[in-house]
Amino acid sequence: MKKNILIIPGDGIGQEVTTWGKKALEKVAEKYGHDFSFDEAIMGHTAIEATGDPLPENTLNKAKSSDAILFGAIGHIKYDNDPSAKVRPEQGLLKIRKELGLYANLRPILLFDELLDASSLKPEVLKGTDILFFRELTGDVYFGEKTRSDDQTFASDLMNYHRYEVERIAHKAYQAAQGRSKRVCSVDKANVLETSRLWREVVQEVATQYPDVETEHMFIDNAAMQLVKNPKKFDVVLTANLFGDILTDEASQIAGSMGMLASASVGDGTGFFEPIHGSAHDIAGQDKANPLASILSAALMLEIAFGLKEEAQALQNAVSQTLKAGWRTGDIANANTADEHRLGTRQIGQKVIDFLQ
Ligand code: IPM
Ligand code: MG
Repeated sequence: MKKNILIIPGDGIGQEVTTWGKKALEKVAEKYGHDFSFDEAIMGHTAIEATGDPLPENTLNKAKSSDAILFGAIGHIKYDNDPSAKVRPEQGLLKIRKELGLYANLRPILLFDELLDASSLKPEVLKGTDILFFRELTGDVYFGEKTRSDDQTFASDLMNYHRYEVERIAHKAYQAAQGRSKRVCSVDKANVLETSRLWREVVQEVATQYPDVETEHMFIDNAAMQLVKNPKKFDVVLTANLFGDILTDEASQIAGSMGMLASASVGDGTGFFEPIHGSAHDIAGQDKANPLASILSAALMLEIAFGLKEEAQALQNAVSQTLKAGWRTGDIANANTADEHRLGTRQIGQKVIDFLQ
């Protein structure tokens, strides 16, 4: 199979982790006889420094003409501490999501048994958890009108949804549920928000087209609580942009670390694959970052963008074997991890490649 893959490392640890996502893809190509070619482009703080624009035209053009995109991370503390900055790294990510029509963000909470003790939650609560989040990605308060009064004492972000935006992601979630345990939990705040009442109405309608799938509606506050109380009760979770952003960070602790979670953003155009973690400037460039989420994002690319299920599984198995052999980066190590099992980004990345071989 011949594919053009665009790598956008982004900011902070993005460069280090995508290096290993790319190496994993190269190894898969070599082993299974595929022809993957790679190009690279800038985005975020890195792009602001180079061009003044968090998403330069050239990056967007390359993105549109590639077959899939592997993205690293975005953000810089400089902006986090300066809320008045007009140009911000995150604008690049939001714009590319919008421009590529990536309305569905799939975030699987993949639990490796070897990491049951890496979470702050009890292993018996976690064991057996397997959740697939469908987070709406191009609507909601993220993209609604923003205002600030002239005297700077008032601000607003408009939360809004169109019926079609809810419909299309709901269909994706129900279709996925049909191939899993046939349960969808739709999360909203319909007891308070009008957007959530529209959301619930549309989901109820879509649900009638999937009579084999069981639907549960849950309020976001309750869902946030249930997720740590009994994560096994969830299978496919369908939710809006902001709720999904928050719930998936929470859910990452089920998998042991943010450094383990991959995601796929899909929709109208080129698919976009990225870890859910941020740019982690505090450890950037120190060979400390966990590259497994980037490698698992590459696996999602193989499966979802290219339909290469066997290759994706092989890559996931290589990650699993690396963990079984006891290798850990700092974020997934604990007090019982022997010093010689604690590895840097490059070493653990190489272990995965070796297992893939
Ligand atoms: C995510 C991130 C982004 C988001 C930020 C970096 C804009 O937190 O992908 O979850 O809020 O969507
Ligand atoms: Mg987030």
